[in-house]
Amino acid sequence: MREKLEEIRAEAERVIAKATDLNVLEEARVKFLGRKGMVTDVLRGLGQLSAELRPVIGQAANEIKTAISNALDERKTALESETSEQRAESDRVDLSLPGRRPRPGHLHLTPTVSNEICDIFRELGFQIATGPDVETEYYNFDSLNTPSDHPARDSHDTFFVKPGVVLRTHTSPVQMRVMEKTQPPVAVVVPGRVYRVDYDASHSPMFFQVEGLLVDKNVTFADLKGTLIAFVHRFFGSDVKLRFRPHFFPFTEPSAEVDISCTVCAGKGCRVCKNSGWLEILGCGMVHPEVFRYANYDYETYAGYAFGMGVERIAMLRHAISSISHLYENDLRFLEQF
Ligand code: PHE
Repeated sequence: MREKLEEIRAEAERVIAKATDLNVLEEARVKFLGRKGMVTDVLRGLGQLSAELRPVIGQAANEIKTAISNALDERKTALESETSEQRAESDRVDLSLPGRRPRPGHLHLTPTVSNEICDIFRELGFQIATGPDVETEYYNFDSLNTPSDHPARDSHDTFFVKPGVVLRTHTSPVQMRVMEKTQPPVAVVVPGRVYRVDYDASHSPMFFQVEGLLVDKNVTFADLKGTLIAFVHRFFGSDVKLRFRPHFFPFTEPSAEVDISCTVCAGKGCRVCKNSGWLEILGCGMVHPEVFRYANYDYETYAGYAFGMGVERIAMLRHAISSISHLYENDLRFLEQF
């Protein structure tokens, strides 16, 4: 009996000394001192012993029980202070570490260029106007002298929302919305999204335009030219040349497309300008009398000019960007360059 108790004591000491966490220690306590534990077993068996042996073994068992219990407590205290020391170490704040700097974002290139364009015209006295992306056919086409059987509608591959309602194919409908609400003189620029069923290296189904409209007495094509030359020189640099090429738009007459000398080869001819030396940047013209009729403006008294340009195209020309998709992929390695 005594031997067995000594064996239990020895094993308990070994197990407790080896215990590396509190769970193992708790298992040891159950194993030796628990209700079905080894020491408890011995104490329970005392009844079968003889009257002389009973007190001797009983006392020895109680001693061992106390010894194991003390050993458990000691180990527990040791483990606990170990873990709190470890925790203190891992939680230590190293005040010498560099701080984590927040990464500030910035505007995307497209709105940046759109804002720059608008700012230049604002300095020239234009105000900002906006209109809805979901537009009626009336504002997008009819009131701009483009009835439904007009061949010019073909060049705008239109997204229809429902009959009579479209995603605007250009910002020109805002011309009419502004004129309906304001009497001349009017001078506005209209930044905004436009939509066309078109998708390749230079076309996106959604893109941005800036529209311009100026109406007053005695406005001539020379005013249009002067304003656009001032804009191009401010935006691209004063050494850039402009070329006004006759064109057709239903809502302006006469109409022109404006080319600038190639920003890559300075007009000598290269891949970007397809060896022509010129790059098209916008459409423009004098407001068509029919448009004034829709706006209830007296076209005997007033004259006006309008222009419209694609923001991505202008951004691409300025930064020699080869594909419009770069502006929509949100690759930070690209975007952070601007
Ligand atoms: N709205 C025309 C387009 O998107 C551009 C334009 C605007 C032309 C104003 C003339 C006057 O192609």
